[in-house]
Amino acid sequence: MDKKKMFLDAMWFRHATKLFADKKIAKEDLEFILEAGRLSPSSFGVEQWKFIVVQNQKLKESIEAVAWGQKQISTSSDLLVILARKDVRSRDTYTQKQLARWGLSADAYAGFLNIYKDWVDGRDDHTIEMWSEKQCYIAAANMMSAAAFIGIDSCPIEGFVASEVDAILRVDTSVFQTALLIPFGYRASEPKPKSRLSMDAVVSYI
Ligand SMILES: Cc1cc2nc3c(=O)[nH]c(=O)nc-3n(C[C@H](O)[C@H](O)[C@H](O)COP(=O)(O)O)c2cc1C
Repeated sequence: MDKKKMFLDAMWFRHATKLFADKKIAKEDLEFILEAGRLSPSSFGVEQWKFIVVQNQKLKESIEAVAWGQKQISTSSDLLVILARKDVRSRDTYTQKQLARWGLSADAYAGFLNIYKDWVDGRDDHTIEMWSEKQCYIAAANMMSAAAFIGIDSCPIEGFVASEVDAILRVDTSVFQTALLIPFGYRASEPKPKSRLSMDAVVSYI
């Protein structure tokens, strides 16, 4: 089949699923989705994320209770919680390890580190936390697209109280914060038709 059609079919298939059927995702399919996240691009290659897969039903229900009671959480097969890293300053051990992976010469590394310091160290904590979250959203999009490509549904969820989710999952908040929830599973019913702006409204060529 035409690759462009296959890809766009997946884009049309994906929708923000509000309720999942009682059907589990196979382990290898879940791993395929997570692999799409792991391989995602990130600024400076820092991989400012961590993926927690919640399979425990009680935990899913506790999280749903602090996420506007959204039923797609407790009915999902697997609830992905994406944590954004806060230890992304140039002084942080995790980040130093990530930046050192490129195998640059000492001079090149020093130059690279200076660019990194300019970009990250001079900014306030909130800006940097949001910067990490932006990277998480790229991984999130790739995972939802990968899932759709193999017929698995998802819903990106920002409607939750992050501090409560952090507490339920005992997240070490000196290092991480919950960025996004994505329940995965199989749709319980067919969605409404997609509603999008026209190509003309969203694209300009200059
Ligand atoms: C960052 C982000 C956060 C979202 N949060 C929620 C949410 O909390 N609950 C929900 O049902 N949908 C949520 N959505 C889904 C959007 O409402 C949905 O993608 C949009 O209305 C378009 O519909 P479609 O994805 O079904 O095509 C979120 C989407 C994004 C990208």
